[in-house]
Amino acid sequence: MKKITIAIDGHSSTGKSTLAKQLAKELNYIYVDTGAMYRAVTLYAMQQGFISHDYFNEKELVANLQHIYLSFKFNEHLGFAEMFLNDENVEKAIRSIEVSGFVSKIAAVSEVRSKLVQQQKRYGIDKGVVMDGRDIGTVVFPDAELKIFMTASAEIRAKRRYLELLPSNPSVSFDEVLKNVTNRDAIDSTRKDSPLIIAPNAIVIDNSNLTKEEQFSKILDLATQAI
Ligand code: C5P
Repeated sequence: MKKITIAIDGHSSTGKSTLAKQLAKELNYIYVDTGAMYRAVTLYAMQQGFISHDYFNEKELVANLQHIYLSFKFNEHLGFAEMFLNDENVEKAIRSIEVSGFVSKIAAVSEVRSKLVQQQKRYGIDKGVVMDGRDIGTVVFPDAELKIFMTASAEIRAKRRYLELLPSNPSVSFDEVLKNVTNRDAIDSTRKDSPLIIAPNAIVIDNSNLTKEEQFSKILDLATQAI
């Protein structure tokens, strides 16, 4: 069967990765979470002391990019690939609210973007890929056969993310999560390099009032039509 490239972009915490994972599994495609790659670079910058609440040494980060090696390794038990930073599993560490607070600053650095985009393009060379992020349909795979742009109201997105974070971080507050979600959207949409925009031929899905099942069946239909 013909294999295609599926690009899923959209606002923060719209459930892009859950949907992309499901779709990849159903179609027997590979799934790439590009947000995890930007998060891993952010974790590296935090560990090296290049970024903190009142400080960001962009030059040092750029000078050290060659020391960052990112890879995904499939976890049979979980059924998806986990993110590794210099051969260390960082899948959990990159999901913290601290990483979420810095990631959009790191993702606005052009040198970071070009390093990661190169690697992302390689993952898609043989098609049969579902990739989610912010610039997949515009920059990484402008020729993708199917482009989806996901959105939902900021409050609904923050509520979903808050409930996800709560078990591992009982001190997290809803307001903090809402602020993080809206701040990230603002930085991601206004940065100079590869801002988050709706690709001209993307299909916009607002999932504020859709169940996961309704959304999945809608997108699976679109994918089947595109194949
Ligand atoms: O998808 P996720 O919310 O994990 O992405 C984290 C952050 O990484 C985004 O808020 C954005 O700043 C950045 N990102 C990006 N381009 C991508 C994927 C993520 O700029 N393709």
